Amino acid sequence: MDNITLNNGVQLPPIGFGVFQSSPEDTVDAVRTALEVGYRHIDTAAAYGNERQVGEGIRASGVDRDDIVVETKIWVSDYGYDETLHAFDKATRKLGFDTVDVLILHQPAPDRFAKTVAAYQALEQLYADGRVRAIGVSNFMPHHLRSLLDQTDVIPALNQIELHPYFTQPDVQRADAEHGILDQAWSPIGGITFYPGFGDERVSVLDDPTIRAIGEAHGKTAAQVMLRWHLQQGRNAIPKSTNPGRIAENFDVFDFALSDEELASLDALDTGKRNGPDPDGTDTSRFERVIPED
Ligand code: A2P
Repeated sequence: MDNITLNNGVQLPPIGFGVFQSSPEDTVDAVRTALEVGYRHIDTAAAYGNERQVGEGIRASGVDRDDIVVETKIWVSDYGYDETLHAFDKATRKLGFDTVDVLILHQPAPDRFAKTVAAYQALEQLYADGRVRAIGVSNFMPHHLRSLLDQTDVIPALNQIELHPYFTQPDVQRADAEHGILDQAWSPIGGITFYPGFGDERVSVLDDPTIRAIGEAHGKTAAQVMLRWHLQQGRNAIPKSTNPGRIAENFDVFDFALSDEELASLDALDTGKRNGPDPDGTDTSRFERVIPED
């Protein structure tokens, strides 16, 4: 498995481990299991409420902290320069580590973009101080990126976006590529297409007949096919699972290859329809959620 090299030289494994919607009770075991299976990159967020358990899982695994890429996100209610520096202290306290490897803004806040920029400038400071090894963004659309790049110095190392075969955001991928920003896929196997609470008219990507047929041809599951598609297209993917069998399944994607035709038929499944929250949405009530100190 070759690592991905970020635009500042930092190495990132292509398949990371996601803990969005992993309850604190499940997260310690999930992270420990993932590290035992071979994952070396864990993606969490202040807003997931499980940073503490991610730290515990890492320590319980016995794997050397320096061999693991720990990624977390600043939530919108902590945007602003000083607020974000303080949010970093909250995150490191919960994780139990002095440094974070990849620190990103959870999403743009269109109703307070100046604070979004100030938050990013705090990330730049933490990067300059050596407290984080790479900084980035999440859910940024091309116009958010343009505006951010105009007002800041360090080009984000990555942009974490909703990206699975039913929603591939080619415009964002193009904008990222123009600046050497890595596309990091959240819901890489389309969990957002079946998670409860995100709308009723969704169809699970895991049930897609094209993906299943490709999987059958390789003796692999639909989830493995999607992860291989990300891998071969140079993206970082962070599948979430709390089930030991599926945690292992999602890491068992290094022994087969999709053909160009198969990759193209996966690309062709894009519906252009977003499943997660609109980064330009006007319902900003969830931004007010307060991230606890401890
Ligand atoms: P679980 O934690 O019970 O395994 P995504 O990362 O794309 O958002 O997808 C996560 C969702 O997909 C979760 O509901 C997770 O449930 C489920 N999941 C994870 N891995 C697999 C898999 N290999 N096959 C089927 N479902 C999976």
